[in-house]
Amino acid sequence: MKNIESSLKESRTYKPNPKFASNSNVTKKQLDDLHKNYQNDSEQFWKDLAINEIKWIKQFETCCSGVAPYYKWFEDGELNVTENCLDRFIGRSKNAIIHISETNDKNIITYDELFVLVNNFSWALQNLGLKKGDRVIIYMPTIPESIIAVLSCARLGLIHSVVFAGFSSESLANRINDCEAKAIITVDGFKRNGKLIQAKKTVDDALALGCKSVLKCIIFKHNGNRIAFNHSQDIWWDEILPNKDKIVCPEKMSSEDLLFILYTSGSTGKPKGIIHSTAGYLLNCIITNKWVFDLKEEDIFWCTADIGWITGHSYVIYGPLATGSTILIYDGAPTYPKPDRFWRIIQDNKVTIFYTAPTAIRTLMKLGENLPDNFNLESLRLLGTVGEPINPKAWVWYQTKIGNSACPIVDTWWQTETGANMIAPLPGVTETIPGTCTQALPGIDALIVDEKGNEINKANQGGYLVIRKPWPSMLRGIWGDKKRYQETYWSKFKNKYYVTGDTARKDKYGNIWIMGRADDVVNISGHRLGTMEIESAIVSHDFVAESAVVSYKHEIKGEAIHAFVTLKDGYSEVNKKELAEKLREWVKTKIGSIAKPDKISFSNALPKTRSGKIMRRLLRNIARGEAISSDTSTLENEDILKQLQNIL
Ligand code: WTA
Repeated sequence: MKNIESSLKESRTYKPNPKFASNSNVTKKQLDDLHKNYQNDSEQFWKDLAINEIKWIKQFETCCSGVAPYYKWFEDGELNVTENCLDRFIGRSKNAIIHISETNDKNIITYDELFVLVNNFSWALQNLGLKKGDRVIIYMPTIPESIIAVLSCARLGLIHSVVFAGFSSESLANRINDCEAKAIITVDGFKRNGKLIQAKKTVDDALALGCKSVLKCIIFKHNGNRIAFNHSQDIWWDEILPNKDKIVCPEKMSSEDLLFILYTSGSTGKPKGIIHSTAGYLLNCIITNKWVFDLKEEDIFWCTADIGWITGHSYVIYGPLATGSTILIYDGAPTYPKPDRFWRIIQDNKVTIFYTAPTAIRTLMKLGENLPDNFNLESLRLLGTVGEPINPKAWVWYQTKIGNSACPIVDTWWQTETGANMIAPLPGVTETIPGTCTQALPGIDALIVDEKGNEINKANQGGYLVIRKPWPSMLRGIWGDKKRYQETYWSKFKNKYYVTGDTARKDKYGNIWIMGRADDVVNISGHRLGTMEIESAIVSHDFVAESAVVSYKHEIKGEAIHAFVTLKDGYSEVNKKELAEKLREWVKTKIGSIAKPDKISFSNALPKTRSGKIMRRLLRNIARGEAISSDTSTLENEDILKQLQNIL
């Protein structure tokens, strides 16, 4: 178990702001009641919420059924998520999306307009012959059309899988093939940091690797760059739209029908296609947007996540739209053209709720600690963070400089698998301490257990973070891989708990502090990456014999990657600096820029046990500049340690 973070230094408690509390969606009394209701009768608790929050086509009778690890929620109910996100808000002349482009164009779309756009595009997809249950890959930046694409799939019951548009052609091809997608929706290209990213070319390269299932590739003309056009497969978005607006009847979805697949890294080389259902997912999205983000009619909610990640699904698209809110999306880089871009957007658009990752906060803090002083950020009333632990220094800066010392901060812990926030403070109610995501939300039975699965109640003793009871938005499995689902999330404690893969501890107040991952997953800039995935990418290079990837603490990214590499015979003389650069580019083409190792070191061998297992723990110690923590007498090649320590 990792040591308690040095971040413990900051331990000031921040009391709820009384002004905020006087108008928050959930009061202290209501929160206590919610917890009590859940403890008294968890079924009734979820039943009431599901009846009140969701617009059903057919209301359910059964609440939760099944046994671990396969649960079903509201199984006999019927609904369509887009009816919840669109139909129920039309006729109110309310803004749904405010889109700011990197070049500062502003485009506002009302709920009425979004409804028309989604219906027309749904009609187009239907016309192409796509049917309920078909998989569709969306490979686009965060622009209104990608949201339209997502919602159109949901309207028809097509299972969407959004692939972050920074992933390489190989990563894209793997995902297309894993879910056997029938169609891909993409853009010609887009600009990031002023640079053209040729998305359609990446799709072409992916398809050239062999993706037999794909029948159609729909391209939205976004940037205007030239693309190669394959007439048997490619079609322009505009050309398939109806001549006159169409209304498409939302597909009746059973609660348990799949809404989407989202790939995330695990501890093997192959990403997992996490599957989410319709009603359960929607319910947790709605309630957490109301409870944790305190979303109200007049709010402008800016969650900076790309729609390629789960945060973009739950807190850009589904949650805020299902609560009838206005979202702001920005498809550019945070520092473009200058590091004050975020603050300018907040000021100019009167953003009220801002949700981002600690990495972004640290980057912007480093690039201009006092830049926010030049802007009027008074519209803000609530701040949030997600994706990785936030260090107290960044938390305090965020609170004072961005939040004007008045905004509550919600540090939200959750995962692709959990669908929505699980552990988080309620603004105006929960006392916060920088660095802790505080306590589980009502309905979430989170605990910390030891190796044997016994609950740890002692303060500050670390253990495995697990969830005991099922909750509606829990993952329903891994696409096409039951065995991996069971093994990854359930078998460690024999189906007794959902195993998050994180380690955590509770302080004396009962606040949960996330300590890190218990598996070979690293968290780079709030993005999950499997070290095995990066290792297999490096090893697939012709010069490389072996590689081991570990992470070390990084001031901005939280964690960064250090790859240890040994070369095949005959390559020992190559220029290592050049090769390191080549390998970095190699990883970029294999996975994507986010996986590029920060450091690469070459050695004759890697430290191994006598049975031939690479001792990653030792490499971790070396990469982190720590004392060697394990017994090295079991090492087959002890002198390799000195060599490794010397090259750093
Ligand atoms: C980490 C992102 C500390 C954690 C929503 C988790 C966090 C993984 C926090 C999930 C937080 C997420 N504090 N760590 N507030 N939120 N994590 O699937 O290790 O991309 O397991 O979902 O991010 O990453 P994912």
